Amino acid sequence: MQTTTALRSLWLDGIEPTPYPTSAADDGALFDVVVVGGGITGLTTALLLKRAGLTVAVVEADLVGRGVTGNNTAKVTALQSTVYSELESVHGTDAAAGYARASAAGVDLVAELAEGIDCAVERRPAHTVALRPDDVPRIEAELDAAVRAGLPAVSDAAPDLPFPVHAAVRLDEQLRLHPLRYAIGLAAMVEGGGCRVFERSRVRKVREGDPSTVHTEHGELRGGHVVIATHYPILDRGLFFARLEPLRSYCVAATLKDGSPPSSMAISTGGETWSIVSAGDRLVVGGQGHQVGERGDSEARYAALEEFARRHWDVAGFTHRWSAQDPVPYDRLPMIGAYRPGADRLHVATGFAKWGLSTGTFAATLLTDRVLGREITDLFSPTRLTPRKAATLARMNAKVGVDMVTDHLAPTGSSDLDDLAPGTACVRRDGLGKTGVYRDADGALHAVSMKCTHLGCVVRFNTAEHSWDCPCHGSRFDVDGAVLEGPAVRPLDKRTP
Ligand SMILES: Cc1cc2nc3c(=O)[nH]c(=O)nc-3n(C[C@H](O)[C@H](O)[C@H](O)COP(=O)(O)OP(=O)(O)OC[C@H]3O[C@@H](n4cnc5c(N)ncnc54)[C@H](O)[C@@H]3O)c2cc1C
Ligand code: FES
Repeated sequence: MQTTTALRSLWLDGIEPTPYPTSAADDGALFDVVVVGGGITGLTTALLLKRAGLTVAVVEADLVGRGVTGNNTAKVTALQSTVYSELESVHGTDAAAGYARASAAGVDLVAELAEGIDCAVERRPAHTVALRPDDVPRIEAELDAAVRAGLPAVSDAAPDLPFPVHAAVRLDEQLRLHPLRYAIGLAAMVEGGGCRVFERSRVRKVREGDPSTVHTEHGELRGGHVVIATHYPILDRGLFFARLEPLRSYCVAATLKDGSPPSSMAISTGGETWSIVSAGDRLVVGGQGHQVGERGDSEARYAALEEFARRHWDVAGFTHRWSAQDPVPYDRLPMIGAYRPGADRLHVATGFAKWGLSTGTFAATLLTDRVLGREITDLFSPTRLTPRKAATLARMNAKVGVDMVTDHLAPTGSSDLDDLAPGTACVRRDGLGKTGVYRDADGALHAVSMKCTHLGCVVRFNTAEHSWDCPCHGSRFDVDGAVLEGPAVRPLDKRTP
């Protein structure tokens, strides 16, 4: 049994850092469009805009493709668990059909762009499966809804899985690829011809104007239009913070002693979610989702995924484990369009609910149309709000409100620093408020203010990732306070242990 498990995504393995400069290289430069965020959404948008003849700059806080785009289960599919029955029940058949058309177009566009990129793209069937008899009606409802939405989905009693399922819906000719290589390939196509890619340049602020000014940690860029493709929107306007719930999920990759991993890309519905895919000789299992910042043992979550893999395959060892998060909108449709009501030059795409490889791609086509002044569907308008959905929104906000105002955080360990074991954290109180103290493997202490720099919620220690995570909107910080994930754009204040 292999005993070493890398604490990073399978897709990050063996990939050299990309070569792009910080935005200081072009400080003050003017572009037709500045795209903030170098994941699949921002890079695809930038490429389509470049192909339309515009000059574009992509500004990435870290390295391109290393956000959620490089940390997922790599399925590019219009069949997405039970999305069509859910959308139909909340928004009606036309909306479900609109989402299906857009998702299928997203898959097609990825297939077309991937042809020119070394990213191991393959056509595969996607399945949604029932592992319990009780979940069969869900599958039947999803099949009916997907067909009504216009997809050529079929019933399939025997997907390529090593265990029986009670029912399954299948959609053929979907895609599996290496998502990080794909993103790096997109970035290479963006760079050049008056277009630029900048890395390690976190955007802190956007001042709207004509042109708008995008302030990064290394100076500023100017853009006639600005697209916010930062996964969770970073700007404190547009009320996204009230409409999106970040959910975190976990993945493990395994090698097998015997047999090969399945060709089918499957996800279970009903009880626990198990997402299954293969990449070369690796089996990947994902699941164990929860709200960011929710208490729980991340080790136990990984153990559950490993136990599921061992139960169904002859596992030789686990090679990788990773986790990531994706914002889920209150009414399940993505948000693509104007950043705030009336904004013609500030655009956004977010809320992909863990299906952003296809959704982020079709979002790019809509944003490109919008920048070019073409009318786009209002189905995904970020400013939508109907009375029927207001109740869900109120429930989400009540939860965030509690996190905002309550001093409810229990210490995560002893507050006596002498007792603090390596790899653990504790909470101390002093005149400045709460301080989170972490002891690293070498015994050194790292202390930060626990007040999230986004809107002030109290962060919590993440025992698996050794990060400080905010339960309100999902910002994450390393043990020295640096931003790992937004919407926060500023580090936590440093404190003395
Ligand atoms: C566990 C898991 C499994 C998933 N599996 C699948 C799947 O199988 N199929 C599928 O379709 N989807 C899947 N998803 C969802 C999918 O990966 C995402 O929806 C998609 O990658 C989002 O792309 P993005 O470009 O919007 O975000 P990202 O890839 O996160 O890109 C956003 C970029 O913006 C940058 N950024 C953030 N703040 C700033 C700032 N202030 N300044 C500059 N840059 C900034 C970030 O560093 C990041 O690189 C999964 C998600 C999870 C969590
Ligand atoms: S308060 Fe919004 S992410 Fe922390």
